[in-house]
Amino acid sequence: MKTKNVLAIIGGVSQVSLNKRLYNEFVEHNDTALRFTTFDISQLPFYSQDLENDFPEMAANFKQAVIGADALLFVTPEYNRSFPGVLKNALDWGSRPYNANVWAGKPAAIAGASSGKIGTFGAQQHLRNVCSFLNINVMRQPEFYFDVSTAIIEGKLTDSSVAFLQKFLQAFEKWIETNPN
Ligand code: FNR
Repeated sequence: MKTKNVLAIIGGVSQVSLNKRLYNEFVEHNDTALRFTTFDISQLPFYSQDLENDFPEMAANFKQAVIGADALLFVTPEYNRSFPGVLKNALDWGSRPYNANVWAGKPAAIAGASSGKIGTFGAQQHLRNVCSFLNINVMRQPEFYFDVSTAIIEGKLTDSSVAFLQKFLQAFEKWIETNPN
């Protein structure tokens, strides 16, 4: 398969984020032709319509990164049964100004890591809803819920977690191939 550039958008912004760890595991165990880059969405200002006339450089750079990507990988924590505000802020910037939505038509996948048993299910459901409105083409199956209490043992990903992570990336590669931007 041809190389595809995937922009990973990570909703966990702390130094010790589990979702940053999950992203690193995707990169480490990737055996597809997908190539990953990321963008630090914590550097984006809070969206306000007041800022649109003098569009912030960081937000313009973020939009360019989305435009330049063949596909998107959202890696999101669950905060209070939804996805974090920092990720919603990034989605809002990419959708503005009106009629300049950079998300439309992008193939995407969603994954998430949590310290809880439901492994970001609530966050992912809310994120799918917003992606649907923004016209992002999100892969439906397989779903990826990562419960760190069972997926990481003695600091290492279990073999079955690595195998599933690779299966997910292979499915994503096919999804991008059949649903190009
Ligand atoms: C959480 N956590 C959490 N976990 C979960 O499974 N469902 C939830 O609704 C919540 N809610 C929640 C709210 C807030 C404000 C915090 C800080 C945490 C726990 C969460 O899974 C855990 O902190 C992860 O480490 C968050 O991912 P990152 O930020 O480390 O990538």
